[in-house]
Amino acid sequence: MLAKDFIVRKSEFDLNKSGKVSAKSPSNIALVKYWGKTDPQIPTNPSISYTLTNSFTETTLSFEPKKADELEIRVFLDEVEKTDFVPKIKKFFQRIEEYAPYLEDYDFTLHTHNSFPHSSGIASSASGMSALSKCLIQMEEELGYKVKNRLQRSSFLSRLGSGSACRSVYPGLVTWGESEFIEGSSDLYAIPLEKDIDIHPVFKAFNDTILLIHEGTKSVSSTVGHQLMNNHPYAQLRFDEAKQNIKKLLEILKSGDLEAFGKLVEHEALSLHAMMMLSDPAFILMKPNTVSALDKLWAFRKETGLPLFFTLDAGANIHLLYPDEGKEKIEAFIQSNLLPLCQNEGIIYDRANFEAL
Ligand code: DP6
Repeated sequence: MLAKDFIVRKSEFDLNKSGKVSAKSPSNIALVKYWGKTDPQIPTNPSISYTLTNSFTETTLSFEPKKADELEIRVFLDEVEKTDFVPKIKKFFQRIEEYAPYLEDYDFTLHTHNSFPHSSGIASSASGMSALSKCLIQMEEELGYKVKNRLQRSSFLSRLGSGSACRSVYPGLVTWGESEFIEGSSDLYAIPLEKDIDIHPVFKAFNDTILLIHEGTKSVSSTVGHQLMNNHPYAQLRFDEAKQNIKKLLEILKSGDLEAFGKLVEHEALSLHAMMMLSDPAFILMKPNTVSALDKLWAFRKETGLPLFFTLDAGANIHLLYPDEGKEKIEAFIQSNLLPLCQNEGIIYDRANFEAL
């Protein structure tokens, strides 16, 4: 599919209708990271993520034919009006104008809720933008448009809201970005991995326990971080390595090699943060307790040989990855040694979501 295949004509919609639609969408955690992009939201390397279960956004979108010239959008998070959310949504609607031309004829009210605390530092853009895109697909249907491939279209629109959001549309292991190693992969939308490869059962019952090391907004947003990959001295090396890591991860996912999984996933996380440290201007999103927790995790693994691994998103929080086997001992260690490093003892027990969304 090409971008032009997602263009629709206004005449295909009944623009007199009002309505209200709702959708829920989970967050995801990347194993091979997306870090670097070109216009319009084209990733500089492919990525692979696990879709999560307990971290999600629920959004209700009300739409009615526009009253004035100016587009009106009101956003409520947990019933509290958030005017600071509006510019991001307006920008998203502008970006998808060509693919959703009916938007300019409507006013909108959004009510949204995250299952995780908003201040937790958990990326809400992936779940938030994918939930909103799912709402738009439903709105299209209410306006009488026959959507052909709902998931693909949601993923395409989500990507234009936030790159990582396009992966949240599918359950399980999901890939976004063209890769010579994955048939059907695209820079324009994500696809589920399972269609093409047999994933080893050990990777299908996988935990992602999130340590909330630092609450509050980050000193540098992901969007700025992506921009700093332009003219970055190590960018090309990073993109090339990530492309090869896709191939390696596919082999690992098939073989069930947990040790190789941990090595690759941790290397990806540390590469992401190394890129930040080598950006100009440089920035560090880890906090002292992030480093302390990684230190303890490595010592625990060395001592016990248990398969506890980590990945990081663009922030100070840590995603602890481990299979169901050996879970009790690992979770006892998390409780006693890692929980004290979290702010307000914040922890989220999440896991990969292989159920239909
Ligand atoms: C580190 O998707 O948040 O989480 O496209 O600018 O919205 P925008 O960025 P975003 O970047 C996510 C970066 C990451 C890695 C990943 O999820 O692959």
